[in-house]
Amino acid sequence: MANPLFATKPLSLLLEEMKGENRLRRVLGPVQLTSLGVGAVIGAGIFVATGAAAHNVAGPALMLSYVIAGITCIFAALCYAEFASMVPIAGSAYTYAYATLGELFAWIIGWDLVLEYAVGSATVATGWSGYFQNVLLKLNLQLPLALRESPWKYDVATGDFIATHSVINLPAIIIVCLVTAVLVKGIQESANFNATMVGIKLAAVLFVIGVGVFYLNPANWHPFAPFGWTGLNFFGHHVSGQTDPQGSPIGMLAGAAIIFFAYIGFDSVSTHAEEARVPQRDVPIGIIASLLICTVLYILVVVVLTGMVRYDELDTAAPVSMAFRHVGLGWAEGIIAIAGVAGITSVLLVMMLSGPRVFLAMARDGLVPQSFFGAVHPRFRTPYKTTMLIGVFVAVLAGLLPIDALLHLTNIGTLLAFVIVCAAVLIMRVKHPEAERPFKAPFYPFVPILGILSCLLLMFSLPVANWWRLFVWLGIGFVIYFAYGRRHSVMAKARAAAGR
Ligand code: ALA
Repeated sequence: MANPLFATKPLSLLLEEMKGENRLRRVLGPVQLTSLGVGAVIGAGIFVATGAAAHNVAGPALMLSYVIAGITCIFAALCYAEFASMVPIAGSAYTYAYATLGELFAWIIGWDLVLEYAVGSATVATGWSGYFQNVLLKLNLQLPLALRESPWKYDVATGDFIATHSVINLPAIIIVCLVTAVLVKGIQESANFNATMVGIKLAAVLFVIGVGVFYLNPANWHPFAPFGWTGLNFFGHHVSGQTDPQGSPIGMLAGAAIIFFAYIGFDSVSTHAEEARVPQRDVPIGIIASLLICTVLYILVVVVLTGMVRYDELDTAAPVSMAFRHVGLGWAEGIIAIAGVAGITSVLLVMMLSGPRVFLAMARDGLVPQSFFGAVHPRFRTPYKTTMLIGVFVAVLAGLLPIDALLHLTNIGTLLAFVIVCAAVLIMRVKHPEAERPFKAPFYPFVPILGILSCLLLMFSLPVANWWRLFVWLGIGFVIYFAYGRRHSVMAKARAAAGR
């Protein structure tokens, strides 16, 4: 008898299931999907994380870090697009893994994706809070210290968490609650709201590039790579490049591992496959178009930022608005801060939209309780119970944890998901060469192989603590799977009923 842990879910069954009741509404076209992609991608990464990454890890070479991270994502995006066209069902990489690698891997990736989306949402909400408080300051308003940020923050110099004397990040909690309410009400409203936000954010990014380009000082690009070109370690053992005082890798490659966060989100387009009108065509378009648009814009923004301000003078909390103040364009600072708030809101919206859909797919397979995680609201047709549960979880994380810890954890979780998706594409091509693939990743097998290798490279460029945090999260996942999922799996029950 085959090991049930590695039982795969047949493609035909997946497609059959799509025809049943309890489905989501098919309302999204290619432009809306691309807009959801851009909405999920451009946010706290470019508006917030760029400052610390240039200042502490990569210097002006951060522009090449963005190129490396962008190329890594393009490999993964092509694999996502192939899968999304084959299996256009909510659940994204989770569903792909179930069809190829079996139930245990599907569980691992599903659990990992929930981590990505939930911790990613908390990261973004924390970045939102920073920009929002910037806007308040412009209006001469300031929150009481107790309500401004998490009680602890990460000290780059010592590598320790230190007290901030604040109690809770109240703006982060409030924005999470508001976004949760919008999402419970429905996807159509969410997509329209998102389109407005994306417009504002794109205008801000184009403004930064178009105006900033007149204030470049090429001298700021020297030295170009003050922290070196690499930055790699293997479970705490230094492999190449420089390290910071805590032994964490620094350099251009290490910068790519950190600002990889800025690209996260294009994959969430695939979680909307079930809500797409023509998923086989439009989901690949949405994934690839949104990634290409963001890659070009990011590289230009970093070229401009590091050209306007020397990397070691860049602000680490709000680098974009600071760069404009630095060159005497103080009036632009407020505009950019407001656009930052709008831009980051749309990221939060898409990220929080995605997590419940992964749980929905897992609930349909019986791996988490169907009555709760699989419930779709009778009128709004949204997975409302999980949306609210994840909302509470994200609010707690965002209220209490500092942004850097959240960001690193999101990156490693997402990179792992990308590795599994690229591997699943390879396996599927071998096991099911006959399956219909409306979109095929080009240059097979190089694209999936390079996708796996480049994601692993970035994982080993992150500070090692993230590996241990990832293992703890996966360990909790294993306990739940063996205590619940394995015994309630719909596939396992069907096999038992058939006497196999
Ligand atoms: N890519 C998203 C951001 O930068 C997560 O905010």
